[in-house]
Amino acid sequence: MSARSLLFVPGDSDRKLEKCAASGADLVIMDLEDAVAPEHKAAARARVGAWLGARPQRAAPQCWVRINPLDTPEAALDLAAVVAARPDGIVQPKTRSADDVIRLGRRLDELEAQHGIAPGSTRILPIATETPASIFTLGGYGSCGPRLYGLTWGAEDLGTAIGAAGNRDAHGAWSAPFQLARSLCLFGAHAAGVAAIDTLHADFRDQPGLRASCAEARRDGFTGKLAIHPEQVAVINECFLPSAAEVAQARRIVALFAAHPGVAALALDGRMLDLPHLRQAENTLARAQRLPPGPAP
Ligand code: COA
Ligand code: MG
Repeated sequence: MSARSLLFVPGDSDRKLEKCAASGADLVIMDLEDAVAPEHKAAARARVGAWLGARPQRAAPQCWVRINPLDTPEAALDLAAVVAARPDGIVQPKTRSADDVIRLGRRLDELEAQHGIAPGSTRILPIATETPASIFTLGGYGSCGPRLYGLTWGAEDLGTAIGAAGNRDAHGAWSAPFQLARSLCLFGAHAAGVAAIDTLHADFRDQPGLRASCAEARRDGFTGKLAIHPEQVAVINECFLPSAAEVAQARRIVALFAAHPGVAALALDGRMLDLPHLRQAENTLARAQRLPPGPAP
């Protein structure tokens, strides 16, 4: 099951690294890129490597590292400092296409072999919309192979790259260029058969806005969302689980099809249901398995 909440933590902050394990996030991303000033990158690399090495292996949350863009000298230093300590995955910023992911995968092949790590076990999550050219390659990530964990998108670097004065319309919704990036990321992820992770809600004190953006993301087919503050985690985790009403409805749909073997189109409450509805109901029940044990809804 893919992660619902993916919490960024600046790699140069001991205090925040301490807090992230107890945040409840499904996945923590220790950042070595934009949240760390150039003069602190070396210390952050060492800290993140040590921090990863000290954690109980494969314990929750998953621990990932965002490295610097692959073609910078920092990226090689980042990988050298952290891969030996077995992160669950690497978040790759500013990817331009699947080729960048494939190239990172080759570097990981070498490092995994060098450190006796199971081949392919370090996954990759590209932030796939941060450069203007990347928007035109979002349909190609299916060629990345099994290291690819998901696709996510970012609005801030893209806006800077195109000189956008803002990224929201008068009502607070994403403006058209950013909606396009978001939608293409969503379709690109599903076309590649991997998790679709929505970008972060930057206003981290705005809980109603976060909740609305999670609801829209789930409605549209995203499976999780980036976070930047521990207080965003609980809302994201809750919003990316099916509600009790959705689970109850999914159970009804599965039961209806089970009661009519060999029939592909049925009616329920005056609405037509066919096989995509059955698949969707089964997906809902699978996602609901993550619910804490409790009375059946
Ligand atoms: N992970 C873990 N702990 C965090 C955290 C995070 N991302 N963000 C805040 N905290 C901790 C703080 O250390 C603080 O704990 P303390 O009082 O014990 O020190 C507590 O949560 C409350 O923090 P708060 O005062 O509300 O926020 P802040 O002003 O300290 O930090 C940010 C605000 C935005 C700088 C911070 O949330 C942050 O660094 N986020 C991640 C940024 C990042 O990684 N960006 C890269 C991806 S875009
Ligand atoms: Mg950035």
